[in-house]
Amino acid sequence: MLHDNIGIGESGHLTFAGQDTVALCEQYGTPLMLLDENRVRGNMSVYVNAMKKHFTGDSHPLLASKALCFKGIYKIAAEEGMFTDIVSAGELYVAKSAGFPMENAFFHGSNKSDAAISMAMDMGLGWFIVDNREELDEINRQAGERGFVQNILLRLTPGIDPHTHAKINTGRVDSKFGTAIETGQAEELIAYALSLNNVALHGFHCHIGSQIFEIEPFCDAADIMLAFMAHIQKTYCVKLKYLNLGGGFGVRYVEDDPVIDYEKNIAEIASHLRAKSAECGIEMPDILMEPGRSIVADAGMTLYTVGSVKTITGYKSYVSIDGGMTDNPRYALYGSRYTVHNADHADREADFVCTIAGCCCESGDLIQEDIAIAKPVRGEHIAVCVTGAYNYAMSSNYNKIPRPPIVMLKDGQSRIAVRRETFADLIAYDAE
Ligand code: LLP
Repeated sequence: MLHDNIGIGESGHLTFAGQDTVALCEQYGTPLMLLDENRVRGNMSVYVNAMKKHFTGDSHPLLASKALCFKGIYKIAAEEGMFTDIVSAGELYVAKSAGFPMENAFFHGSNKSDAAISMAMDMGLGWFIVDNREELDEINRQAGERGFVQNILLRLTPGIDPHTHAKINTGRVDSKFGTAIETGQAEELIAYALSLNNVALHGFHCHIGSQIFEIEPFCDAADIMLAFMAHIQKTYCVKLKYLNLGGGFGVRYVEDDPVIDYEKNIAEIASHLRAKSAECGIEMPDILMEPGRSIVADAGMTLYTVGSVKTITGYKSYVSIDGGMTDNPRYALYGSRYTVHNADHADREADFVCTIAGCCCESGDLIQEDIAIAKPVRGEHIAVCVTGAYNYAMSSNYNKIPRPPIVMLKDGQSRIAVRRETFADLIAYDAE
């Protein structure tokens, strides 16, 4: 199986985190989003321990909330010693409501409103990762009004193209995020930030993209960032404590994706950073990383009930399910690949080539095309693996389809972490 939390039970049913997925469908209904809590915790502790071991004292992994945001995930993150990266006032609100220690939260985003900045400061947010000059001014102004100095990092673009999907590639100079080193604008912004009284600049951030399997793009970005840090520290006589390398480690979605050893990657990046820091004549900065996908993706699985199996003579077969792009828009958006099983007959040969079609009134609502599974019939269940990241987080109510629940699995037990949306929820905001 693709990951060791996926298996086949005695009945031939697919199991996840050691539990029978068909029984879970019967208990909770479908579509159903499962989350393997031990896997989430295990992935977090790989980062926490590896960063402690290979980087300097105050280095931390930040959970990239955008990958999966609900109260329970922040509680787990806090318990596992993760910091967090949030990108909106909404994520901030969820983190705060979950009791996440706000001094360990970093506020990202390319357009923070005055109201969001004020809300974050009211909540005692630790760090802003500043994207642009306008928000720098506003953070400085609001901190001044409150009579304190706000800790910040600046988001910079190192000009790296890691060759992932164009829409999830963010480190190039021509990007809506951050400020470019290459054009000289980053240095201008830094000089300006250093002249302000109510912000304290402690370092830089860069994020080059997502679903990256090699470590070279991270090392290339780090080289540019460290050389630039050395230049700034020498020119402006400042000490910069942090380098935040963003997120982006890839995840195994299908059998032909590589198996990734995150601890080894972190160790290799650390030794690269150590050598490059020495070459640049600076102390190795403390490192922050922002993993999202590699924390939650393989802890997730989505289950659906099959409605019809339609073979168009001379063309192809469609298996229709009771969810689709509303709970997982990633195939429609990016053509993302997934591993799919017939959950009722995971032990049978996967010899039926078909397209898994969602239930939206939209022909692009597909989950996968031309994949092989054991042929299902109406009422059986389809499992889509590795759906923990950017599925629930990107879900919608298109066609007024309610969002599925998130059911957490742990040590043979299951519990609802986010309840299923109801039809009443769908009209909850409508005026009479
Ligand atoms: N930090 C920053 C600043 C980011 O922009 C991102 C992702 C991350 C961290 C986390 O990256 P990860 O470790 O998850 O790769 N919706 C797309 C992914 C968009 C990623 C956006 N930024 C998808 O479904 O593939």
